[in-house]
Amino acid sequence: MGARDWRDLPRAPAPGTPVCAADALAGPGTLGVEIGGFPLLLVRTPAGLFGYFNACPHQHLPLDWRGGQILSEDGRRLRCSNHAAGFDAATGQGVEGFGEGCALIAVPVETAGGQVRVGTV
Ligand code: FES
Repeated sequence: MGARDWRDLPRAPAPGTPVCAADALAGPGTLGVEIGGFPLLLVRTPAGLFGYFNACPHQHLPLDWRGGQILSEDGRRLRCSNHAAGFDAATGQGVEGFGEGCALIAVPVETAGGQVRVGTV
């Protein structure tokens, strides 16, 4: 699943689709949003803003389904709230537990004009 392209996913939003106001996720952390039925997880870390299809490759549940803090203190690791699969926050590569050997599907995001939107590639 890790090699899948986000553009092939059901209800994938078009590049340029507005996601949210940039200040909706101003500091390090995550924000789960739905864009026309497409679940997107925004991740802000000291290294930048990243987007992922919000479905853990373990059991296809949203990573933040059980809520709580899923980004590590240093902003480098995402830990699925369901069964603790660990992923590199900047690449989506699985690095721990049920995440090993798989990866999140990255969705490009960009900030412009005070708004986060779906990026190009
Ligand atoms: S659904 Fe994410 S670790 Fe099980």
